[in-house]
Amino acid sequence: MKAPPLRLGVNIDHVATVRNARGGPHPDPIRAAHLAVLAGADGITAHLREDRRHIRDQDMERLKRQLFVPLNFEMAATSEMIALATALRPHASCLVPEKREERTTEGGLDIIGGHAHLRPAIQELKAAGIRVSLFVEPETEVMDAARDLGAPVVELHTGTYCEAVAAGDQAHVEHELERLRRAAAHGGGIGLEIHAGHGLALDSVRPVAAIPQIVELNIGHFLIGEAIFLGLDEAVRAMRSAMDEGRAQTE
Ligand code: PXP
Repeated sequence: MKAPPLRLGVNIDHVATVRNARGGPHPDPIRAAHLAVLAGADGITAHLREDRRHIRDQDMERLKRQLFVPLNFEMAATSEMIALATALRPHASCLVPEKREERTTEGGLDIIGGHAHLRPAIQELKAAGIRVSLFVEPETEVMDAARDLGAPVVELHTGTYCEAVAAGDQAHVEHELERLRRAAAHGGGIGLEIHAGHGLALDSVRPVAAIPQIVELNIGHFLIGEAIFLGLDEAVRAMRSAMDEGRAQTE
């Protein structure tokens, strides 16, 4: 099977984290989005959290107005966010669980245990012409549940895999990669579009990029961190090359 092209979505949340540390307009996350696109990003992701700790409403409006690439509006499935997304009409909305105390999105949506509120949210977003993706754990039953909910896309949570890479635990790395491969193959087989993300870095991205059903990776924290050392342009280009190297390994 020849793998389809693999898109890179750059998440710019943490440019806003640095901006907000001082209360002024610098550094501007929208300027970072433009630079990322020039460096090869296929899309931009921004997570408007309930507490607005990084991205703010005005950032989403500016991104929507200024970008010529797809905007992925990451959000919790709350009535406030659904109203904002349906008014803004981004290309896509990625629904994530959100806990106020967490540092980042810690796990995938629990769509097997508690999906009652998600069905109408997905319908409402789809009716507004927005492509809905669900951020989920890489399990085959979760793929079935996402399809049953009417979501066209899932984003597989790669956080546990990336933690295993960072810990240098090879057996755990293999186990987690196998979960990702199995979930991607099953999800692709039942007609879902498969994305992946969370925690990906240069030393972890290649095996994920090699999974042929995955067509988009969303990457933020590592790239914004590397931008301190390399500049954002070079950081995005290095990630793009690593993704291409990984993709070339696809059987
Ligand atoms: N995908 C989703 C759904 C996320 O919540 C995040 C983190 O905001 C990412 C991808 C990107 O993760 P990271 O910033 O660790 O690259």
